[in-house]
Amino acid sequence: MKETHFAIRNNPNGQELWRSISGNFQRFPEIINEFVDDALSNFRATRTDQRRVEIRLRQWEEFVDVSVVDTGTGIRDIHAALTLGSRSGSETALNEHGMGLKHALASACEDGSWSIQTRTPEDNAQDQHLVVRGPYHLGDDPMTGCYLSGRGILMGPTGTAVSFTCTRDFFATIRPAGDRTDKPFEALVDILLEELGHTYAPILDDGEMEVAVVVGDQVYPVEPVFPYWELNSIHDILPTDLDLGGGPVRVRCCWGLIRPDKDNHLYYRGNMESSGVEIRCNGRLMERGLDKRIWSKQLHPSRNHFLMVVELTADQPGALPSTRPTKTGFRDGDPRLEKLFAWLRANITPIAPQESVEKRLTRALAEQKQAESDVLRVALEEKTYCSLDLRVKMDLFVSRRDQTEVYESKKGPSKALDLYQLKMYWDGCAVDGRPLNRGILVARSHPREVQNLVSALNDSYRDPTGQPYHLSLLTWAEAGINPKAV
Ligand SMILES: Nc1ncnc2c1ncn2[C@@H]1O[C@H](COP(=O)(O)OP(=O)(O)OP(=O)(O)O)[C@@H](O)[C@H]1O
Ligand SMILES: [Mg+2]
Repeated sequence: MKETHFAIRNNPNGQELWRSISGNFQRFPEIINEFVDDALSNFRATRTDQRRVEIRLRQWEEFVDVSVVDTGTGIRDIHAALTLGSRSGSETALNEHGMGLKHALASACEDGSWSIQTRTPEDNAQDQHLVVRGPYHLGDDPMTGCYLSGRGILMGPTGTAVSFTCTRDFFATIRPAGDRTDKPFEALVDILLEELGHTYAPILDDGEMEVAVVVGDQVYPVEPVFPYWELNSIHDILPTDLDLGGGPVRVRCCWGLIRPDKDNHLYYRGNMESSGVEIRCNGRLMERGLDKRIWSKQLHPSRNHFLMVVELTADQPGALPSTRPTKTGFRDGDPRLEKLFAWLRANITPIAPQESVEKRLTRALAEQKQAESDVLRVALEEKTYCSLDLRVKMDLFVSRRDQTEVYESKKGPSKALDLYQLKMYWDGCAVDGRPLNRGILVARSHPREVQNLVSALNDSYRDPTGQPYHLSLLTWAEAGINPKAV
């Protein structure tokens, strides 16, 4: 049979395509970040003096009007800018996928109620600006652009404004994931300020750009959101030049414990979600909560105050690990990312689970005993009842020149059961053939029933070898150890 070939007619319909790329963003701030990224990229590429972005909001009953307005040098090539996936407009590494603007607009308003105003230096010379309005069209049914005189809603001689109308429900996705409480508009604006302040913290701090949220006459400048480090817990690696496989990258790492900031809605709160590892690319936060992907295990809950900030800086496109098209994280399996993770594993030890207060108290007691002149040996967690293979571990064992002691420690008030634990250490040592001379239960306080039980055990009971017990009670205060200071 003769082979017949025919053309596949797969020109997409503009509006169908537009709908198909919507819905990939989880939250409103992720969309705003795409527009801010475009403005920042333009500031960086053109080194313009004016570097301001305003996010203007206007609320209606059911909708919110949003405009992201910048003072950049305008969109150089509107055709490329509105072509899905086109990389020809790319100005810096922040213009990575050729999608952000379209992707974000499609997700914010499927119905096509968006517009772009832009004014380049050439437009400025002619005192005009270019306007393109949605909905998105393609091919034989193209969208049209038109020049209007003046600056439109722009705030400088050149710049870009992206405007859209979204539903109140979509705007409300500013609230933290999982939080279903109905938040007033002002509270959502407050969270948006924190989101932007966190995503662009070092960039805002360096004055590389300024960002403000504007609601009516109110202007809210975005302040950088940084963690408050516990001063004696900070470690860092000096800036190191690496090649992750696509050109030089400078890596800076800083890690330690933070003081939880309970005034924040989302970040650096000292909880599970806001701790761990965050990675920034040229100052812009790319992903956080990466500890599991780096060390294959989640941080221990006692390490919720642990934070590691990894800052990657690179000029060359392709030097940094590639991001997801929504710029909400890195692409899994990217070889540059894997190389970075390998480097982090080689150079940073994830902080071990924090010792419980009880363990730290016992350690303090052990150090105190070690310093006493007649002490020969001090052991934490030493086994007893070895002859019966019971695997019982004593909190603290102390051997002096002429006697041996065992300690059971409790951070709070003692209980009768704690005394039986101490008795078990004693019995185990007795049957193992290294009898004890003193057993001491250390706790914050000792209630009467525990005091009575000590007297009863000492007076009326015998250990498995027929010897009397010498148990006693001690408080942390009597031992000279302050539970708050360990
Ligand atoms: N505010 C702006 N100022 C100047 N140029 C812009 C602006 N916004 C968009 N552009 C131009 O439009 C192009 C397309 O933007 P879009 O966000 O869709 O993709 P991208 O930034 O190239 O890649 P990414 O998908 O990584 O965001 C940009 O490369 C840039 O040339
Ligand atoms: Mg972009």
